[in-house]
Amino acid sequence: MSKLKVIVSRAWPAEVEATLKEKYDVQLNETDVAMSKDEMKQALGNCDAFLPTVTDPVDAEVLSAEPLRTRFIGNFGVGFNHIDLDAAKARGLTVTNTPEVLTDCTADIAMTLLLTAARRTSEGERHLRANAWTGWRPTHLLATKVTGKTLGMIGMGRIAQAMAKRAHHGFGMKIIFVDPYPPSDEVIQEFNATRCESIDEVLANSDFVSIHCPGGKETYHLLNKENLSKMKSSAFLINSARGDVVDNDALIEALKNGTIAGAGLDVFEGEPNLDKRFLELENAVLLPHLGSASTETRIAMGNRVLENLAAFEAGDTPRDKLV
Ligand code: DGY
Repeated sequence: MSKLKVIVSRAWPAEVEATLKEKYDVQLNETDVAMSKDEMKQALGNCDAFLPTVTDPVDAEVLSAEPLRTRFIGNFGVGFNHIDLDAAKARGLTVTNTPEVLTDCTADIAMTLLLTAARRTSEGERHLRANAWTGWRPTHLLATKVTGKTLGMIGMGRIAQAMAKRAHHGFGMKIIFVDPYPPSDEVIQEFNATRCESIDEVLANSDFVSIHCPGGKETYHLLNKENLSKMKSSAFLINSARGDVVDNDALIEALKNGTIAGAGLDVFEGEPNLDKRFLELENAVLLPHLGSASTETRIAMGNRVLENLAAFEAGDTPRDKLV
């Protein structure tokens, strides 16, 4: 049997690329430069399986490719708001993602952002590196205590639950959440969590608000000027989910005016084009989308794509089939 022709959109961890080379007639992206839409369209005409990642807009235009040879799209990443699933389905494609394997690392980054924003540790390091430290004093860089505070979750899926585990069992935090599809009572009891009826209720009652809902049309600017104003002025917003869940202008204004105390952000609206106004804000902790960026996790994500592709090739239903 001839090998499947596979095209990968970006560079992947070396050991996963080695497996790809062994099993498939694969075209890797050694330059690691993002593919244009035209290049993705061409890829769909030239390969049996296309393996994009969370920064590739596999939209209706890309999916209108003619001729279309691809039958399988294996996304490297859990989020799939960059793929038009309806258009993919209409063209008879199978699409998969990589859930579970990045849950812990993403929750670790969310917790890192929370601690960094609250305790002003980025500011502290900048201060030290600028050679500005004159020594310990009782009022230097006073920050916000984390232990025992209330953490509000917007969305209570896998990553939120992993964050709740760290926050509740590690830092004695009270967990409240809003989610139209709440987890089981057993999960809720594990964190002694309280379900709120609305986003506003979470925002008004939290010392820290952490976003864990998927990106996409339904959640676009879910947090906006009006509801951000419901947050306590001492509270922090943490976003490790998707940038466009929050209205940039509203967030920047809230951070500038002190309507909220600070933010920890791993994702940005329009990334990688960062709104330069963020760079001026001392009370914003900014990371370049590092949620899943540990060697172990990125290898696991690649292997999960391979597992899905192998199932597809064998005529089985891949475990992470989206459509
Ligand atoms: C994903 O997989 O969707 C993440 O954003 C990558 O870290």
